[in-house]
Amino acid sequence: MLSGELTTLFRAARKVISVNQKHINDSAIGDKGLSADIVLGKAKANYKAAAGKPLDMNTGTESKQAMLDAVQTVMEDAQDLINEEGVGLKGFLPAIFARQVASKFSSNMKGKMAIKLTAPKSYVRNRANRPDKWEHNIIENKFKSASYEKGKPYYENAKVKGKMAYRYILPEYYGKSCLGCHGQPKGELDITGGKKEGGVLGELGGAISLSIFE
Ligand code: HEC
Repeated sequence: MLSGELTTLFRAARKVISVNQKHINDSAIGDKGLSADIVLGKAKANYKAAAGKPLDMNTGTESKQAMLDAVQTVMEDAQDLINEEGVGLKGFLPAIFARQVASKFSSNMKGKMAIKLTAPKSYVRNRANRPDKWEHNIIENKFKSASYEKGKPYYENAKVKGKMAYRYILPEYYGKSCLGCHGQPKGELDITGGKKEGGVLGELGGAISLSIFE
């Protein structure tokens, strides 16, 4: 299914940034070797590992290409930032990368599709990532319900800003690597200067929301 493939591809690209986060923040290294081409190659490898098969460009070609192009543009634009020697923390985080890719993807698709990384309302740091009514409802009443199957996407036809769309949303949970910033104690500052959410391992921490307009 195309929505599953696109969200898997989005996550596969973001994973390249998470896995390389320490490397990106290493002040002793200039060129990080994370050109757009390299990141695209690694994203496709992550995709294959997650999906169990290579990315098939014969179906949903326009949107898959729009996602790859978005990753390419974001990485091209990020080169000066990530390759600056002598600077540690650069603020080039998985969630920031994801927001930039999402915004590029949506504009590449010219209003036909949109993707977004969001989170439970009480956990949202960046207001730009706030869930809309539909997302909020699914997060609170489906994903947080004890009987909801973990990791299962939810989809239905519903409106986005007044326009009908096929909406698909995938829950994401905090892993160990997330808790340094999103974990406990709640309110303590993380290395980026933001306030920790007080989250725990395995807790619902976010969601990827895709809309395909009619
Ligand atoms: C180095 C600290 C750090 C780590 C590690 C980290 N995050 Fe974040 N996360 C942030 C910051 C800062 C933001 C806000 C980004 C922005 O301004 O858009 C954020 C934003 C998010 C968002 C978007 C919603 C929002 O709050 O604006 C989600 C979802 C999220 N993180 C999930 C995760 C998950 C899941 C992991 C682990 C796989 C993780 N984060 C690891 C710092 C971190």
